[in-house]
Amino acid sequence: MQLHDYIEEVAQRLANAQLHYGHGTDNPYDESIYLVYSVLALEFAQDPKRIDRMISVQERLLLEVLLTQRIEQRTPVAYLVGEAWFAGYRFKCDKRALIPRSPIAELIGAGFAALINSTPDKILDLCCGGGCIGIACALEFPDVYVDLADISSDCLALAQTNIALHCVADRVTAVHSDLFTALTDTYDLILCNPPYVPQKEIDSLPPEYRHEPESGLFSANDGLQIPLEILRSAVDYLHSDGLLIMEVGYSAAALAERLAQIPLLWLEFAEGGEGVFALTAKQLKKYQKQFI
Ligand SMILES: C[S@@+](CC[C@H](N)C(=O)[O-])C[C@H]1O[C@@H](n2cnc3c(N)ncnc32)[C@H](O)[C@@H]1O
Repeated sequence: MQLHDYIEEVAQRLANAQLHYGHGTDNPYDESIYLVYSVLALEFAQDPKRIDRMISVQERLLLEVLLTQRIEQRTPVAYLVGEAWFAGYRFKCDKRALIPRSPIAELIGAGFAALINSTPDKILDLCCGGGCIGIACALEFPDVYVDLADISSDCLALAQTNIALHCVADRVTAVHSDLFTALTDTYDLILCNPPYVPQKEIDSLPPEYRHEPESGLFSANDGLQIPLEILRSAVDYLHSDGLLIMEVGYSAAALAERLAQIPLLWLEFAEGGEGVFALTAKQLKKYQKQFI
């Protein structure tokens, strides 16, 4: 079978299986490309219709095993192939950490244009998981120093692998920390995609999400406990003209309602995504007692 015909066939089988997308792609055809190209180590820039080669029996056998896992166990492709793409960079990805998908990627690619006035010297990626946000920043800003912090040793081990993969160990450090507790530095920019999903929402998530560590998703108090804790402390770890950018996803409405008096700057994304806001260090200081 020609490779491009096989890609079409896989897309059709994915579509028939009524899967959930949202871990790197949003439709069966792109999901098919993600799976087949990753397994066969093809360049994603190649147009599948122009690839003039047959798929071998061995390749097909391997892909069929993974496709069955995608369809029957609902395992996201990123975990099946062990890698995910974020802000244009490839990251190692496995069940120790959430699959990278934060819209913060778009801000990194744009160099945080309109949000910061000068190139940052030091960035914190708080709740870093496999380290995609902080490492992508280190790749975008060649002189920046980055701390990656997470409470999970498993996540930090994966982050170390990604630091090595991108050869940024001289500028990126992984720190084991319960939020800010083990951190002593101050930063120009704190980027954070913390857990923010309330229990009732976790219970109703599609099966794909059950493959991800719940500790990366769940936050008590309508999803707001961890985001509010971060808001209370962040100013102590920012320079006076620093900025916090935090994702709270679908908990944005709950946070906006809780903090109705506070001018959270909700960011817009051309490439999709929502629920990310910015607050300056000065605002964090001014409203610190209201983050409850
Ligand atoms: C939504 S995931 C984000 C992962 C990564 N930043 C990304 O965007 O793909 C949230 C991360 O927060 C970490 N986490 C949960 N509670 C934490 C805490 N108290 N302190 C530090 N990290 C925490 C989890 O281990 C998980 O890796």
